[in-house]
Amino acid sequence: EQAEAKALYDAYEFTAKFYNYIMLNTEQGRPALDYLRSRGMNDRIIETFQLGYSPNMRDKLAEILGKRGFDLALMEKGGLLSHREGSGYYDKFRDRIMFPIHDQKGRIIAFGGRAMGDIQPKYMNSPESPLFNKSRNLYNFHQARPQIRKSRTVVLLEGYVDAIKVWEAGIQNGVASMGTALTREHALLLRRNADEALLCYDGDPAGQNAAFKSIELLEKEGFHVKVAWLPGGQDPDEFITQFGGERFRREIIEGALTSTKFKLQYIRKNFNLTDVDGRFRYIESALKLVAELDAPYQREHYIQELASEFPYAADNLTQQMNGYRQDLL
Ligand code: CTP
Ligand code: MN
Ligand code: MN
Ligand code: MN
Ligand code: MN
Repeated sequence: EQAEAKALYDAYEFTAKFYNYIMLNTEQGRPALDYLRSRGMNDRIIETFQLGYSPNMRDKLAEILGKRGFDLALMEKGGLLSHREGSGYYDKFRDRIMFPIHDQKGRIIAFGGRAMGDIQPKYMNSPESPLFNKSRNLYNFHQARPQIRKSRTVVLLEGYVDAIKVWEAGIQNGVASMGTALTREHALLLRRNADEALLCYDGDPAGQNAAFKSIELLEKEGFHVKVAWLPGGQDPDEFITQFGGERFRREIIEGALTSTKFKLQYIRKNFNLTDVDGRFRYIESALKLVAELDAPYQREHYIQELASEFPYAADNLTQQMNGYRQDLL
């Protein structure tokens, strides 16, 4: 067991170096390097995140791992190789940009591989293993942890490239859940290091739905939650590429909403506010959200916001909201 884990760590480390070498030093790695550069990833980023390229060859990695004395059956278990009876071992990742995934201690435990063209699936990840569990591990946590602890805040992202771009934009407390939903295990791990969580998911409906669910989960563990709202369906990487890191920090991060404000905006889309009945129904839903807040001054805060937006007295809104509060108790 212990020996297998050790061999896998060694193999992943070796493989990351191999992929990185192929990208930086060979002709066939050139398109991968150009691809990363076209997406704004410079040599420093490639170095910091140990990015690489898995060559488009049947069994180059298998051959090299074999020569190095690694147990190929174990490498198959670890997700680097595949195996077919009669045809030996061959490489699992081919012709992909490779993102090493690290554990808390900075050891590589898996890879994410991105296709450069429109090939499906866009990302291929290492399978779950004794070392890698998507519901426990977070991309970039090992590098972000010092800043997470220092600021007591974690920035939560969806994707590899988001975590990288946000890091380059000077925000070094960002981690990515790699597309999967945030889990309670993630929340507990982060809670040991931070008090505030800033959700910065993709600005598409999927990202907003995910944010809604993550708020619930994180608040249950005692986090203060804020939500950075990305306009136009962009993700953090796209926003930073288009507008730069400075504007990302100033507008998106500093402009993050409280979780309640986010929820109010989120449900609002479902109502036609130009219609009186639609307005009634929005206000009812909004007041139900406000009723869930524990702090009286916070309930007052949102009541005042609603009272200033709609032609109804704060007293009446409060009375209605108190009715919903009774229902909760
Ligand atoms: N993901 C995955 N498998 C997929 C699609 C996505 O594992 N088939 C994970 C990856 O970690 C990815 C994250 O979910 O980074 C977010 O997915 P998506 O928004 O679709 O990709 P981006 O991170 O925006 O990737 P890119 O910018 O390279 O297109
Ligand atoms: Mn086999
Ligand atoms: Mn997405
Ligand atoms: Mn995305
Ligand atoms: Mn993206």
